[in-house]
Amino acid sequence: MNLSITNFDSYQEKYQQSIKNPDQFWEVIASQFKWQKKWDKVCSWDFNQVDIKWFEGAKLNITENCLDRHLPQKANDIAIIWEPSEPGQPFIQLTYQQLYEQVCQTCSMLKELGIEKGDRVCLYMPMVPELLIAVLACARIGAVHTVVFGGFSANALAERIDDAGCKLLITTDGAKRGHKIIPFKQIVDEALALSKHIEKTLVYRHLGEKCAMQQGRDIWWHELSQNQPSEFIAVAMDAEDPLFILYTSGSTGKPKGVVHTCAGYMVWTAFTFQNVFQYKEGEVFWCSADIGWITGHSYLTYGPLLSGATTLMFEGIPTYPDASRFWQVIERHRVNIFYTAPTAIRSLMAHGTTLPEQFEMESLSVLGTVGEPINEEAWQWYFNYIGKRRCPIVDTWWQTETGGIMIAGLAGVTPQKPTFASYPLPGVQPILVNENGKEITEPSTNGYLCIKYPWPGMLRTTYGDHERCIQTYFSTFPGLYFTGDGAFRDELGMYRINGRVDDVINVSGHRFGTAEIENAINLHPNAIESAVVGYPHDIKGEGIYAYVIFEQNEINEEQLIHEIKDLVIKQIGKIAQPDYIQLVQGLPKTRSGKIMRRILRKIAAGQYDELGDTSTLLNPECIEFLKEGQKSLMTSS
Ligand code: WT7
Repeated sequence: MNLSITNFDSYQEKYQQSIKNPDQFWEVIASQFKWQKKWDKVCSWDFNQVDIKWFEGAKLNITENCLDRHLPQKANDIAIIWEPSEPGQPFIQLTYQQLYEQVCQTCSMLKELGIEKGDRVCLYMPMVPELLIAVLACARIGAVHTVVFGGFSANALAERIDDAGCKLLITTDGAKRGHKIIPFKQIVDEALALSKHIEKTLVYRHLGEKCAMQQGRDIWWHELSQNQPSEFIAVAMDAEDPLFILYTSGSTGKPKGVVHTCAGYMVWTAFTFQNVFQYKEGEVFWCSADIGWITGHSYLTYGPLLSGATTLMFEGIPTYPDASRFWQVIERHRVNIFYTAPTAIRSLMAHGTTLPEQFEMESLSVLGTVGEPINEEAWQWYFNYIGKRRCPIVDTWWQTETGGIMIAGLAGVTPQKPTFASYPLPGVQPILVNENGKEITEPSTNGYLCIKYPWPGMLRTTYGDHERCIQTYFSTFPGLYFTGDGAFRDELGMYRINGRVDDVINVSGHRFGTAEIENAINLHPNAIESAVVGYPHDIKGEGIYAYVIFEQNEINEEQLIHEIKDLVIKQIGKIAQPDYIQLVQGLPKTRSGKIMRRILRKIAAGQYDELGDTSTLLNPECIEFLKEGQKSLMTSS
């Protein structure tokens, strides 16, 4: 699927081909995969009803393309390198043959547990090889995996299990994250007390600590895996059968289950992986994202394995045991391509250049970033001190919904410009529109970023609620997929993503709906109303700032703030914990009662002189109080 684009001219040529005759373009790419039956039609689509089909009529199994297709030629090549959280512990390498066998054995375990094609299986696990193996086993047996990031709370886990109607849950006894122990199984037990669907849980023993096992429901992985056969015939899937559900936050309260399907997602992740990173056989690719996010699905698991690559999986965090851990891992495993988030770069940058200088990182040839806009300073630091000015940086813009990279440079092939994701990949047709949905064609302008033509990896629906998919993504600007981002396009046609234009905040590359956090806060009996906004944060990109109108009945304010934080942690997880909570008596509202978030964002950022006209507010008098409160919060912290 590597297009063998070697320079900017050939990129432009391929790009033109891909939009002039998309079906022909994708047919050539798709024919390089292993199909049980070829498609009847490449693409059919309707953005109004959101009825999108790619490679309709085809039969396949994505794991035959991740595993079987590479055997026996790549039997002894390393598929996964696993680096444990504790630096002293041995790492693990699995060859393509070993990975194949373990996936097959796991399929037999799933079968014994009653899992069939179409069943939903929830994976709530730390970054251990068994997570990746379980993902592939689900795909091979035709079950729909839904991975829930290990940083989510029991409540958030239960909500996702129920929405997807999962039958089986796979977890571990626990895991270490930095110095802390995360009791995975205990969190699962709490979640299952709230949820009805799960019939069985499969528990992989990772820490070796004692954990409660419920008879009849909980089964040990190491017991069930005994004597399972090392072959399992991949279930034939229709091109448009669901492959997985992944929950993501939007501007409304409840997270949405984004659904990706088998064939299109496969073609898209392999195609984008090979072209953006310019992966060459034998290279070690390291994506530092957790499999619980889309980046971990597409570029730690599927994209690399579909390409026969060696993918590195790291259980730990960048700052444990100290802030040189990433550089140590790059040296230890001679990583060639490193793909991480701007937030990680900024946090490591704060520790200076002496740490990376101590490690031999000559193996690096390509660097990537994902998840949020990268600021110029972080880009330069990454380029100078990690890539030593030798390595191109690909700033990759995409979303959970897009399945894979949409706008990005092709490493070393297309020109790069710091803070610009740059050009659309072949097959991607972006368009900037104004608030009325009218296309903006002038060079050097900002607009709402939309996509006007389908691409194989796009979402097909939101699980259990197709109407919500139509409303959220395809109705703001009829006939277009709306990304929720604003972007700038320069005179050369390069895109810079400015960030979200909806009520979504991006904290360390993770997405939260402000409404979702507000809903959690409002559960507190003393909270009357709340408004959550993002504010600029040096490391996290955006921090979480909550204004809460509270009931003033002899309550200790410090205690209340503490309880509200705990509530958010309980409802969503530590990752969504507000940085600041300001207790207030009123929020700026329009005459129709709508909260003026724009003003709240400016106050949270301390940009008092950019509030604009506040005279039309219903309650302009509250502004002074809000400013005072913000000032004292900032000085007291
Ligand atoms: C949102 C999607 C893509 C996988 C990780 C996040 C922001 C993503 C970039 C980038 C500027 C970016 C956008 C997007 N975003 N990549 N390279 N430059 N912004 O996936 O949780 O679905 O979030 O992340 O705002 O809409 P996600």
